[in-house]
Amino acid sequence: MSRTRTSIPGFDELIEGGFVENDVILVTGGPGAGKTTFGIQYLMGGIVEQDQPGIYVTMEETPVRVIRNMWRFGWDMEKFVREDMLRIVQVNPVQFKNFIKPDSQSSTIKVDEEGYMLENMMNQVQSMIKEISAKRLFIDSITSLKISTSESMVRFTIMEMIKNLENLDCTTLLSSEIKGNDGDFTVEEYLCEGVIKLHVIRTGMNKERAIEILKMRGVKHDELLHPYSITEMGIIIHPNDSVIIDRENIVNF
Ligand SMILES: Nc1ncnc2c1ncn2[C@@H]1O[C@H](COP(=O)(O)OP(=O)(O)OP(=O)(O)O)[C@@H](O)[C@H]1O
Ligand SMILES: [Mg+2]
Repeated sequence: MSRTRTSIPGFDELIEGGFVENDVILVTGGPGAGKTTFGIQYLMGGIVEQDQPGIYVTMEETPVRVIRNMWRFGWDMEKFVREDMLRIVQVNPVQFKNFIKPDSQSSTIKVDEEGYMLENMMNQVQSMIKEISAKRLFIDSITSLKISTSESMVRFTIMEMIKNLENLDCTTLLSSEIKGNDGDFTVEEYLCEGVIKLHVIRTGMNKERAIEILKMRGVKHDELLHPYSITEMGIIIHPNDSVIIDRENIVNF
């Protein structure tokens, strides 16, 4: 199996060298856990170290803000856009929402309309992948797609999207938000090939960051919680240290 190195210091050795090529992997965590940083660092690693172009789809933050924030880590996203090594796409979840009919409408219509929007987004992503021969894709975050009030509609949208992404010739990272306490699993956690959790553990006045690989199908992955830091150079994982905590103390908000 070919591997896609993330090049995030300390991470690849936890998963036998990298993501399995063309898999769809989820990185999940609470606010400020480092999901966007993790994903952009994965794209940067591809461009700088593997000569692999990448696509970044942002649903919440504007490209200008992301470019500015990532500049702090020394990553010049604009330069890579100019060099056709990176494409940044902004998808507006509000526009997405406008296509969802009110609950009083028949569910068939809702499925069709939402499916249509998803198809539009996927077509846009697919043509960008072709344009620059992208090998890496980062979608940040899919939580914004869960705007339907109906649980079955949310499942449908996320399932359709993951199914579509699995057919692309790209190794895809998705981010999603964790709300509340650890332990409630989401549809995307079941459907993705791999799940990485970025925990922020608060005990009294202290805040500690710990990364956990919840699953990685077909990979003999590490199962411990390891500390990670966000530094001037991005995320660094400390694979030789582990964090032992009472699960009840993991609060992701
Ligand atoms: N230069 C830096 N040095 C240390 N820590 C930093 C630096 N820049 C950002 N951070 C930390 O990274 C956090 C933001 O990371 P990031 O935006 O990747 O998180 P996120 O999980 O995507 O958050 P959100 O849920 O808001 O989208 C900040 O809240 C801050 O704690
Ligand atoms: Mg973010």
